[in-house]
Amino acid sequence: MIITIDGPAAAGKGTLASVLAQAYKLAYFDTGMVYRAVGLDMYLHNEDPQNEKIAEKYAQNLTFTHMHELAKNPDFRSAIGGNYASIVSAHPKVRAALLKMQQDFSKNPVFADGTPAEGAIYDGRDTGTVVCPHADIKFFITASTEVRAMRRFKEFQSKGIQTDFETVLADMKSRDERDSSRATAPMKPAEDAIVFDTSEMSIEDVFNFCLKIIDKKLKNS
Ligand code: DC
Repeated sequence: MIITIDGPAAAGKGTLASVLAQAYKLAYFDTGMVYRAVGLDMYLHNEDPQNEKIAEKYAQNLTFTHMHELAKNPDFRSAIGGNYASIVSAHPKVRAALLKMQQDFSKNPVFADGTPAEGAIYDGRDTGTVVCPHADIKFFITASTEVRAMRRFKEFQSKGIQTDFETVLADMKSRDERDSSRATAPMKPAEDAIVFDTSEMSIEDVFNFCLKIIDKKLKNS
């Protein structure tokens, strides 16, 4: 079984994907990591993320091992990492170079310890539209910009990352704009995606809502 969860930053995709992956024993691929890895690698090498040719080289050389190493850097999840990821992800050549790596995972999904899994859950912006267009179930989740900015602000605070709410909100708006207006694979729901807003929902509400849909699908398959 392949499940995709797409949507803007801090809509709750990662949390939902993790709990569903555990509940259904599925491998989990957070596809934002591939763009964060390329962006952070360029940042650490003082490269200009706007340079598509150089960004493509970094994307072509990315491996899972290198991605997981970069993920240990505190800036992987910081605003710097997020902004670099958003900039490099707008380059069509970067997206093309990273597509196979993402699609191959659905053919041989593995858990974090390398053991094989029966299926996978993806989260990102284009996993239902481009990476796994044949996924069994596609969710597209969103929440108001203010709610998402507050969630991200609290996450930064809990990690000791110094920032203020207005900066996080402004960053969130510019990333949303860039992610949804780019020419290649813009963030948008797949035609067959189940779309819902999590602004007023707890994680339990979101989980139970998805659980019902997945169980119904499994019963009918
Ligand atoms: O989900 P995230 O915040 O880790 O994603 C970081 C950036 O990567 C995001 O701004 C857009 C990009 N991204 C993408 O273009 N396509 C994906 N499937 C996942 C992320």
